[in-house]
Amino acid sequence: MKCKSAVIKLGGSLITDKSSPRTINWDSLNDSILQIYKYYKESNAKIVLVHGGGSFGHYEVDKIRKTKNVIDSFSTSLIQESMLTLALAVLKSSINSGIPASLHPAHTICKSNVKDCNYYPIINDLNNGLIPITYGDAVFDGEGKIISGDDLSVQISNIINSDCLIFATDVEGILDEKGNLIRELRRDQNINIINRNVFDVTGGIINKINKAFNSKSNNIRIVSGKEIYNALNGEDVGTKIISL
Ligand SMILES: Nc1ncnc2c1ncn2[C@@H]1O[C@H](COP(=O)(O)OP(=O)(O)OP(=O)(O)O)[C@@H](O)[C@H]1O
Ligand SMILES: [Mg+2]
Repeated sequence: MKCKSAVIKLGGSLITDKSSPRTINWDSLNDSILQIYKYYKESNAKIVLVHGGGSFGHYEVDKIRKTKNVIDSFSTSLIQESMLTLALAVLKSSINSGIPASLHPAHTICKSNVKDCNYYPIINDLNNGLIPITYGDAVFDGEGKIISGDDLSVQISNIINSDCLIFATDVEGILDEKGNLIRELRRDQNINIINRNVFDVTGGIINKINKAFNSKSNNIRIVSGKEIYNALNGEDVGTKIISL
């Protein structure tokens, strides 16, 4: 089924070069955005864009954690600045391609976690035909807290009842220990991946899978950035997450 409404998470692995601090992968970002524009123009689907931290947020947090036990107010500000820099690149790419995008930094709508956010500005823009963009961010409520882009994506998919939730990364989907694509993942299969743990399964990807299970969308997929259009078009690409 083609997506009539979708939350698309552009992974930091896709839109940045994770091995190099504060480096945008413009080719990959622009290609991802063009696919989204093409689908949006053809379908007029309702789309919310979320992006991750990549070599911006993750790098900044990592640097802070090496010297401090907690994220203080100034460190929160540094993370926010670095993520806003990346977000402006996503916004610029979107506008250049013709997408009517609007930016909603999570620190302007969230208090301390994704369950405590005012999503009304995003929903309002979505209902008025814009494509809202939000992203993984830091907030300060006495101490700095990280708001995950994956969590935001799941939460927004449930709030707007999107039929699709697409996580786009730099790999073709979830890979098994031999590096082969797993076409479908059910809740009870999850443990097998953790236990096999041969293909350098990081906490990152396991967390992503576990979070994805919490979405009520019918079509939840982890796909390559090259397959975003195909995933939106209802094709069986990447790894399908079956949360029911
Ligand atoms: N079994 C696996 N299958 C697929 N990817 C895996 C696996 N194990 C580790 N990975 C790594 O997980 C990465 C994707 O998760 P990660 O959280 O790093 O990216 P992201 O969500 O795109 O980035 P960000 O968190 O910045 O948004 C891939 O780049 C891949 O290298
Ligand atoms: Mg991640």
